[in-house]
Amino acid sequence: MKRVITYGTFDLLHYGHINLLRRARQMGDYLIVALSTDEFNWREKRKQCYFSYEKRKQLLEAIRYVDLVIPEENWEQKRNDVKEYHVDTFVMGDDWSGKFDFLKEEGCEVIYVPRTPEISSSQIKEELHSKKDI
Ligand code: CTP
Repeated sequence: MKRVITYGTFDLLHYGHINLLRRARQMGDYLIVALSTDEFNWREKRKQCYFSYEKRKQLLEAIRYVDLVIPEENWEQKRNDVKEYHVDTFVMGDDWSGKFDFLKEEGCEVIYVPRTPEISSSQIKEELHSKKDI
């Protein structure tokens, strides 16, 4: 069984996320999503999520491409996750291109897929914020 892993915040789940998850799942038989915790998002990225970790986890678990959701709590855990979950393929959107190539040292394939254009959680937040009648 080929195991794939991907990392992210997945706040205000949108079709760019779904495209990424679908493509990631197509690369293997079992997809693990390491979901950034609220604490990690705030501490490391100064990002405040609209949906809590538990809500974001519930949404991801309802998606047919996702087999397991685990917490992403720090930047350093990736090497350990790859070993612990016997991961064959690591997948991220190409906004992270080159950043995680070190995982190849663990015998893991590292793939960056093109982002879906013109959609992101921050963009949704900004646009809704600027529309006073919504
Ligand atoms: N992603 C994608 N296409 C998009 C948006 C996100 O392929 N249009 C991918 C990212 O590259 C990443 C995963 O989805 O691999 C989770 O990204 P995340 O940062 O949670 O989503 P964004 O919408 O980019 O959120 P933000 O605006 O807060 O950065």
